[in-house]
Amino acid sequence: MNELAIFGGTPVRSKPFPGWPQPNDNLKNKIIHTFENEGWGVGSATVTRFNERFADFQDAKYCITTSSGTTAIWVALKAAGIKAGDEVIVPPYTFIATASAVLMANAVPVFVDVEVETFNLDPELIEAAITPKTKAIMPVHIAGNPARMEAILAVAKRHGLVVIEDAAQAHGAEWNGTKVGALGVGGIFSFQTSKNMSAGEGGAIVTNDEEFANACFSYHNCGRVKGGQWYEHQHLGGNFRLPAIGAAMLDAQLDTIEIDIALRDKNRNIIDNALKDVPGITPVKMPNEVTMSANHIYLSRYDSTKFNGVSREAFFKSMQAEGVYTYRGYVPLYKENLFITNADEYPWLADRDYSTLHMPVTEKLCYEESIWLKQNHLLGTEIDTQDVIDAFEKVTTEIRKNPERFQDIGK
Ligand SMILES: Cc1ncc(COP(=O)(O)O)c(C=O)c1O
Repeated sequence: MNELAIFGGTPVRSKPFPGWPQPNDNLKNKIIHTFENEGWGVGSATVTRFNERFADFQDAKYCITTSSGTTAIWVALKAAGIKAGDEVIVPPYTFIATASAVLMANAVPVFVDVEVETFNLDPELIEAAITPKTKAIMPVHIAGNPARMEAILAVAKRHGLVVIEDAAQAHGAEWNGTKVGALGVGGIFSFQTSKNMSAGEGGAIVTNDEEFANACFSYHNCGRVKGGQWYEHQHLGGNFRLPAIGAAMLDAQLDTIEIDIALRDKNRNIIDNALKDVPGITPVKMPNEVTMSANHIYLSRYDSTKFNGVSREAFFKSMQAEGVYTYRGYVPLYKENLFITNADEYPWLADRDYSTLHMPVTEKLCYEESIWLKQNHLLGTEIDTQDVIDAFEKVTTEIRKNPERFQDIGK
C-alpha cells in the first residue's frame, strides 16, 4: 500500500463527494409552479399538499410544517401540554435544539445517557430519572437510526408520560415496519440544509392524534385555532409556518426520497461489511427492530487501545489527508456554556447545576470514540464508497504497524 497522504503519499481520493442538497428540474419546476400559481404563504395549496404527502410518507395521519426543527420541537412540547417547570427527558448526545427548545418552553431538560452501541437514549436508564415533575420523554433518532422505541414507549406508558420523537435526522426511517415520528404522541423533523430532505430551512411535526395536531396548528400559527377568526388568538404561539416555496422544494424531494433512501442504505451496508473486519473500528449497531435507517450520517467508534494508544485525533487528521473527512461530532450537551445557567435568565432552573453532570457513555463517545463521516459520504457511487473503505483500511493498517509515526499528529 502506498505511503499515507499525511506523510507525503498520494491520497486515496482528491475528488469531492456528491454535493447536497441536489437541485434538479422537477424541483425547479415545482418551485416555479408554486411561485406563479399557488401563493407564497398562508393558505397556499402547496403547503396543504406537502403536509398531506409527508404525513402519508411517515405513516401518520397529520403533518404540520414549521419554520424549523427547533420551532417544531417547541410547538410539539406546548401542544403536548408541557408547562413551565415540567421536566423533559432528553439524551445529551444530540444537536443543541433537542434541549434548547425545552428551555424555550420554560421546561427543564433532564439528561439521560445513551447506549454505547447505538449512540441513542438508553431505555434502561430512563426510570431512575423520572420525578413527579417529569411530563415527557424525547428520544432522538441520532444519525437517522431509530432509538429503541418499544422500550421507551413502555416506560412512558408505565409513568403516564408523553413521547415526542426528535426525528430531525430520520426522514423515512422505520421501527418494526412503521415509519418513525408518530410512534408516540408525535414527532418532529428538520428540513435544514444538511438534512436528507431540505428546504434550506424548515421543519414538521407528524402525529396520529387529532387533538394534538390541532394544538400544534395553533401554536405554530400565532395561537389561532382551526375555524377561528384571523384576529383571534387562543394560545401564546408565534408565526412558525413553513413558506410555500419551501413546501414546493420538499414536495419535489418526496418524488425521489425512496431512491435516496435505497442508495444510502446500500452504501451503509457496504461500509458496515468492510469495517466489521477492521480491528479497533466498530460501526454503530442497529437494533433488529430497525427495519430501515435514514442513514443520515455514518457513525462508528474508534478504540485507541487497539491502535497502541494512537489518538483518535491523529486518525482523523490522517483520514482527512486521504480525502475522506472524518470528525468527532457532538460534545455532551450539558457541557455547553448555555447550561452554565444564570438564575436571573432561567429562574426555573435555579436549583439545577448541570456542571456536575457526568454521563460516562456520552463522554466516552464524544471525547474518545465517535467517528462521523459527512452526510454526503453515503450518496456516492460504488467507487466513491470503496474510497471511504480504502481510506479506513489504509490509515488503520499504518497506525497498527507503525504507531510511533503518529505520536505528534493532532496534538
Ligand atoms: C437532532 C436534531 N434535533 C433538532 C434539530 C433542529 O432542527 P433545525 O436546525 O431545523 O432547527 C436538528 C437539526 O439540526 C437536529 O439534528
